[in-house]
Amino acid sequence: MGQACLTNNERAKLLKAARNVLKQAYAPYSNFRVGAAVLTEKGNLLTGCNVENASYALTVCAERVAIYSAVAQEGKDMRVRAIAIVCESGRDCSPCGACRQVISEFGPDAIIIFQSREGTEEMHISELLPKWFAGRVRT
Ligand code: THU
Repeated sequence: MGQACLTNNERAKLLKAARNVLKQAYAPYSNFRVGAAVLTEKGNLLTGCNVENASYALTVCAERVAIYSAVAQEGKDMRVRAIAIVCESGRDCSPCGACRQVISEFGPDAIIIFQSREGTEEMHISELLPKWFAGRVRT
């Protein structure tokens, strides 16, 4: 597994896109708005925000909205090179467990950039979710 690095320019673009899409979040129940931006291995940039529902469990996180949008754009072979996640000031938004599993599916070598109380952190997906469930080998 290669430790693919991001350029400063790519990192800045991802964070800016994630901050922009944060404004679109539909979060009337939690009031916790999240924005995510995916850079695919093909070089496309797709964004997502969290979308909540009156039936709380139907809520979808920003990361999954962005990743599924990238699949819709590029098709089944879409691979996540990096994903940036931001929320409102001072909050911590490392991806939830479910989103880590989804990131692993489409980005086994993905770089995750997320906002934390210490500032912006950057980690490899295997650090956030070691031994992820891969199921059958994908074709
Ligand atoms: N949320 C995300 O969008 N991403 C995460 O990784 C964690 C949580 C959203 C879901 C919900 O709308 C709100 O944050 C509060 O949990």
